[in-house]
Amino acid sequence: MIPKSNHSSRNGSPLRPGFGAAYKPDTMSVADELHPVIHAGRVALVTGAASGIGKAAAIEFANGVFPRGEVGLGWIVAVGCLRRATLRGLHIRELIKISTIHHANQQTTNLTSLLTHRLGLKVAIADLSEDALQAVGKTLAGIVGDANVLVVPTDVSQLDQVVRLRDKVYEAWGEVAVLLNNAGIGPKGTSWEGLDNWHKIFDVNVFGVVNVQHTFVPSMLHQENPAMVINTGSKQGITNPPGNAAYNASKAAVKSLTEGLAHELRANQSGNVTAHLFIPGWTFTGITSQTSTDPSSKPAGAWTAEETVLYMLDKVREGEFYVLVPDNETRREVDQLRIMWAAADVAEGRPALSRWHKDWKAIYEEYVRDGLAQLE
Ligand SMILES: NC(=O)c1ccc[n+]([C@@H]2O[C@H](COP(=O)([O-])OP(=O)(O)OC[C@H]3O[C@@H](n4cnc5c(N)ncnc54)[C@H](O)[C@@H]3O)[C@@H](O)[C@H]2O)c1
Repeated sequence: MIPKSNHSSRNGSPLRPGFGAAYKPDTMSVADELHPVIHAGRVALVTGAASGIGKAAAIEFANGVFPRGEVGLGWIVAVGCLRRATLRGLHIRELIKISTIHHANQQTTNLTSLLTHRLGLKVAIADLSEDALQAVGKTLAGIVGDANVLVVPTDVSQLDQVVRLRDKVYEAWGEVAVLLNNAGIGPKGTSWEGLDNWHKIFDVNVFGVVNVQHTFVPSMLHQENPAMVINTGSKQGITNPPGNAAYNASKAAVKSLTEGLAHELRANQSGNVTAHLFIPGWTFTGITSQTSTDPSSKPAGAWTAEETVLYMLDKVREGEFYVLVPDNETRREVDQLRIMWAAADVAEGRPALSRWHKDWKAIYEEYVRDGLAQLE
């Protein structure tokens, strides 16, 4: 049984923006100047934050979206750019590229600094390795200051450690606005080999997520201000490609439990919490490249962790539940076709994983070609 939090009163965030009742996740957009959940002064908690996607997310949360200090000309320019970028279908990743080019050309000095050196959220980070976590904590403290960073070594597969994590965060800041439930591992476990790995994967990828969700959501529901839970899933949990049955099954479970969470939160009268399923594309991190995470060895097809995180943040701000992230190899339309094919295996009674079945492979490829041609 999970010990209850001592902090289950209706804690407002220290910077209370008073958005409460007006919060409509499905109408929010990146262009809104103050997102009620992801904005300066509120609290983000990231698990699996010592490396890869979790580390990049922690840094983005610390950076925040909005500038410190007075609203000046640069800020107006930045907001204008955000609006135009949104209108043109760009997201923040492209905007930062644009601002960086401006900066390089020295045409504008303060747009980049406005977009990259801002007081953002307070950030609590959790992971296994204390040393690696402290190094990330140092980076975060350089952005938001020591007082706004909490480093809590935690094994998410251990419920008592997750309870300790919750107590530390609520004691320090009295709320969690964004919970990125992200820790994950991927050692191989095929259908009849690697039983130990099956257990390890499920302990972290499934029970880690469940432990965090069960421990934090009751406290988050008692907060006055809106909050969100973002669980990291995987395309492998949706289309189930052969290669690592254990990982795929764990991520299929994350999809299922996050859909259940979203529905239950929607039905809950007392709460103001939304759930999101973060589905990264191919991202260059330790989990996909065991040999080196040196940026120079990133395969062309993969996105960096920063790109994946910026895209994800853009979409959760817009209120999307399924945050399906592309990469340089797979565009969104291809993902959509793959997902629809996988669902049609069930609906049409085809063989399991027909996409990789010798009698169906060619038909699948023709389906993708036709699907993409229709879009052109
Ligand atoms: N990189 C990709 O292409 C990709 C694609 C889809 C999904 N994902 C998912 O994204 C998430 C982040 O992975 P990543 O790509 O950044 O890999 P990563 O290996 O760089 O990061 C995973 C982090 O989780 C931590 N972790 C592992 N077990 C833990 C535990 N028991 N308690 C706390 N922390 C633990 C690791 O120490 C590591 O820092 C994972 O859930 C992964 O399955 C990644």
